[in-house]
Amino acid sequence: MNYKSLINTSKLPSHIAIIMDGNGRWAKEHNKPRIFGHKNGVLSVRSVVEGAGEIGLKYLTLYAFSTENWNRPKVEITALMQLLVVTISKEVTTLNKNNVRLLTIGDLKSLPSNCKKELEKAKTKTKNNTGLNLVLALSYSSKAEIVNAVKAIAKGVSEEKIALDEIDDNLINEHLETALIQDPELLIRTSGEHRISNFLLWQIAYSELYFTDKLWPDFTKDDLFEAIVNYQKRERRFGMTSEQLSIS
Ligand code: IPE
Ligand code: IPE
Ligand code: MG
Repeated sequence: MNYKSLINTSKLPSHIAIIMDGNGRWAKEHNKPRIFGHKNGVLSVRSVVEGAGEIGLKYLTLYAFSTENWNRPKVEITALMQLLVVTISKEVTTLNKNNVRLLTIGDLKSLPSNCKKELEKAKTKTKNNTGLNLVLALSYSSKAEIVNAVKAIAKGVSEEKIALDEIDDNLINEHLETALIQDPELLIRTSGEHRISNFLLWQIAYSELYFTDKLWPDFTKDDLFEAIVNYQKRERRFGMTSEQLSIS
């Protein structure tokens, strides 16, 4: 199915976030080790980033590694980090060619130093690009992000730089790592799991959620387009009634 042609370009979301799940099960289905699934997952990332660029999406946030993922077997973690280094260094030319700016959220300090280096290099090399902003969530925990924001605000209050009455939605937003990024209109999770797994909890307060049974390595840009078409059929009411929306 060609879903791209069904997309209403005047009603595009500006930010899509994806929980890329199911690499391990995909590998198992192919009688291969888990890392084979992760490697094939990279091909899906490439396809989806390409697709996002084609339709002129502004922000795509990909959940690549959670703080909870540090609890996986050491061999898997090492292989994932290695895959990250290799992929970033290989893809940076393509990112530049496609005008993609690479950004990250998460606790980068906890990543191996070669990963950090490669990421910083790629971010610097792509920083002037004006097309898609590709945000990689690495060693990311939404609760940790909120804890850090609360700490920073509490410090501001204790130092009398922030008045208690100034604490509102906006101020909290400004203290999150996503401060400069609009909340995602659409959150996609693959692999049939119906949970958020500590991803962007504050930011998805009013996002549309889209779940698909497809395992991440089977997900392509056409699946992304299908999710967008599905999103565009929904009525986002933000607490109002359907009748109110049809008047305005
Ligand atoms: C997602 O696939 C990739 C990461 C979390 C790094 P999984 O590795 O979680 O795959 P499943 O869920 O075990 O199938
Ligand atoms: C969520 O997937 C994290 C990423 C996709 C990076 P997990 O596979 O780690 O999530 P759970 O453990 O099934 O909730
Ligand atoms: Mg998983």
